[in-house]
Amino acid sequence: MTTTDSLQFNSDHQLQHLLSIEGLDQRLLTEIMDNAESFASLANQPVKKYPILRGKTVVNLFFENSTRTRTTFELAAKRLSADVINMNIATSATSKGESLLDTIRNLEAMHVDMFVIRHALSGAAHFIAQHVAPGISVINAGDGNHAHPTQALLDMFTIRRHKNDFSSLRIAIIGDILHSRVARSQIQALSILGAKEIRVIAPKTLLPIEVNALGVSVSHTLEEGLQDIDVVIMLRLQKERMSGALLPSESEYFNCFGLTQEKLAIAKPDAIVMHPGPINRGVEISSEVADGPQSVILQQVSYGIAIRMAIMSLILQPPGRHHT
Ligand code: CP
Repeated sequence: MTTTDSLQFNSDHQLQHLLSIEGLDQRLLTEIMDNAESFASLANQPVKKYPILRGKTVVNLFFENSTRTRTTFELAAKRLSADVINMNIATSATSKGESLLDTIRNLEAMHVDMFVIRHALSGAAHFIAQHVAPGISVINAGDGNHAHPTQALLDMFTIRRHKNDFSSLRIAIIGDILHSRVARSQIQALSILGAKEIRVIAPKTLLPIEVNALGVSVSHTLEEGLQDIDVVIMLRLQKERMSGALLPSESEYFNCFGLTQEKLAIAKPDAIVMHPGPINRGVEISSEVADGPQSVILQQVSYGIAIRMAIMSLILQPPGRHHT
């Protein structure tokens, strides 16, 4: 069986697909963030376009709902001058029984260069990457509870912009770790970048059994877990992936694990607050904190465009291949 590691790189050791943070190294994560810096400055220019991907075609295939990821992938591709197709899954032939692979084969026949895939099943992007024609790239935009690598990269970029040196940072990831593809990818990225401590704070029912193998420290209360923290990352309760009753109620969850201004005061005074979105006010975070001065939640969204531009240009126009 092909591993994600070997599948992600081509025979020239260049990134062909981005399926997971696993298998990437610090040099590559840093290169992507460095490239994103130049694209982030483009956001303030009157003309937000580069000709880097002129003539390339990108298809967004989202089998699960999305606001931030789908829109920022589309904007990123357009700002790089690629042609972008957003497949409407509800009105596509997959709703008439066409298999996923047949849909991919038909799109390949239209000379597509890249698929951006979101799917409820873990491993869907990996499966498609195994079956696409040579030269076509796949980016995982979130698969089940497995991985969301571009979210993790934009989160690392946001942290770097505010805090600079990962080796001095204690980061807390709070909430539904069990069902979170974002948390898995963030933990991998923070480990590769050498964070001082990655702490997860959650009730036992929302932690994976193998949590100790993730290389994190564990706390079950905000009062203990937020001590000395530089970066607070909140997670949504992934109710669409929960089976059975894992929590007494949302209000009880908010009482114990919801981030209020009072709880945030336990962390370092200059701690930043992050959330991949969508946020659920009054469930995992109070409005006071989400809209407060320590929140960088909307900056994460903006940086998502720059990071996705950096990833798409690295994959479709790697260094050494000239563009006009
Ligand atoms: N963070 C994230 O994946 O948000 P969307 O579901 O809106 O894409």
